[in-house]
Amino acid sequence: MRIAVIGSGYVGLVSAVCFSEIGHEVISVDNDSAKIAALERGEVPIHERFLPELLQRHLGGRLRFSSSIAQAVQESDAVFITVGTPQSETGEADLSFVEAVAYEIASAIHSPKLVIEKSTVPVSTCESLRKTLLLNGAPSGLFSVASNPEFLREGTAVTDFLYPDRIVVGADDQFSVALLQAIYQPLTSGDYYTQSHAIPHPGQFHGKAPLILTTAKSAELIKHASNAFLAMKISFINAVANISEAVGADIQQVCAGIGSDSRIGPKFLNAGIGYGGSCFPKDVRAFHAVAAQCGYDFGLLGEVTRINDEQRRRFVKRVRSALWTLRGKRLGVLGLAFKDGTDDIRESPAIGIIEALLKEGAHVRVYDPAAVPNAKKALSSDRLSYADDSYDAADACDALLILTEWKEFASLDLPRLKRLLKYPIVIDGRNLYEPSRMASAGIIYHSIGRATGVPDHLSEIVQPTEMELPVTARDFASGAASAS
Ligand code: UDX
Repeated sequence: MRIAVIGSGYVGLVSAVCFSEIGHEVISVDNDSAKIAALERGEVPIHERFLPELLQRHLGGRLRFSSSIAQAVQESDAVFITVGTPQSETGEADLSFVEAVAYEIASAIHSPKLVIEKSTVPVSTCESLRKTLLLNGAPSGLFSVASNPEFLREGTAVTDFLYPDRIVVGADDQFSVALLQAIYQPLTSGDYYTQSHAIPHPGQFHGKAPLILTTAKSAELIKHASNAFLAMKISFINAVANISEAVGADIQQVCAGIGSDSRIGPKFLNAGIGYGGSCFPKDVRAFHAVAAQCGYDFGLLGEVTRINDEQRRRFVKRVRSALWTLRGKRLGVLGLAFKDGTDDIRESPAIGIIEALLKEGAHVRVYDPAAVPNAKKALSSDRLSYADDSYDAADACDALLILTEWKEFASLDLPRLKRLLKYPIVIDGRNLYEPSRMASAGIIYHSIGRATGVPDHLSEIVQPTEMELPVTARDFASGAASAS
């Protein structure tokens, strides 16, 4: 199959490379000519496992890059739209990039094409896309539109594409259904997985990728509802963690108990400083706005966002209560990315928290294995410095804060850490350690939804089951640690 992928950002590039990997002829398009030139040289602009080797494998073969939408559309049977759908000021998705791309696609349709929306968009976007294509000169008998949402997580996007939990095809006519089934056939038949060069699946896989056929509108709803549900799961468990903390229970034990109910499941039940990234915060707000436009008050989604924002403020308050005052304090910070395995800092809770700490007069020395170059563009303060590794970040600090769940932060040499810190205090927003283990290493350990770990000789100054004070009106009013 000949495929055009319009937009070579995160979703577009991963999709283009993976479509080539499963045997299709692909043209990946972007209007940023510098990006296209870099990709043509084999340079990958994002931090994503397997992407460099797959780009290398198919570049100059089944995979080409171009700046021309018209050329890519003319040379393809299927055209995927993967441009950004950022949040507008009102919280709705801004679809102006999709619309701009549609104008150009319309004038290049001279033979049968399927135009597929892959970016996350509000329900009914396919309908608007079809109208826009018609109004801009696409002959009505020569094209169809369909929805095929992506479910790619940053850091595992390539394996998420090749080994999906499900492929959702939202199509309202037989031509679209047949074309999309043919595109995904190497995955749905399992043929791809038998090839010797196939990218290995990290865990267990059942041999064939399931494909779910729906209408276009249902597919659009599936995407928004899935992301909103996952975000809700995180906010729910964070709210339970706050209760757990107040009564001296242990959220990890609570999660093990909740998660072993097969109707709930153990995934996405890690309490922490909340979700971030380019999808969840934006998609929850956009879905809320979609509901409002339909005349439905989906208040639950407002709560999901509110709890998520509050989680950051509570963490800053926790730092304040552990150190008394923050002005002039030196804080080591581990983590900038919104989660592990990525250099992405968009809506990262870590960034919001660091900004709040700097605002309160603290000195911050931060380390992240991948996200420092991006953070340098986003954060600026003469009280902020960058460390070479975790121990360098901790050196001579009043406390060490853990803000991203990078695996390497979960296996620190604790005796060395204790020697380096001025005060033996670790405040962990990702629950990477057992409180008792930290306490045995002589470190006062604060985490989320669990009692503080306190070394015996310091029990006089910290009560392990000390109740956290509720977040005060002042915390809300100041807006400290709100999303960056
Ligand atoms: C998400 C969706 O998972 C993906 O299907 C969609 O297409 C794009 O958005 P991604 O943004 O890459 O993917 O991140 P994900 O791995 O889902 O994590 C989102 C955020 O939630 C991170 O900030 C992470 O730290 C946080 N999180 C996740 C928790 O706080 N607790 C958890 O239990 C899980």
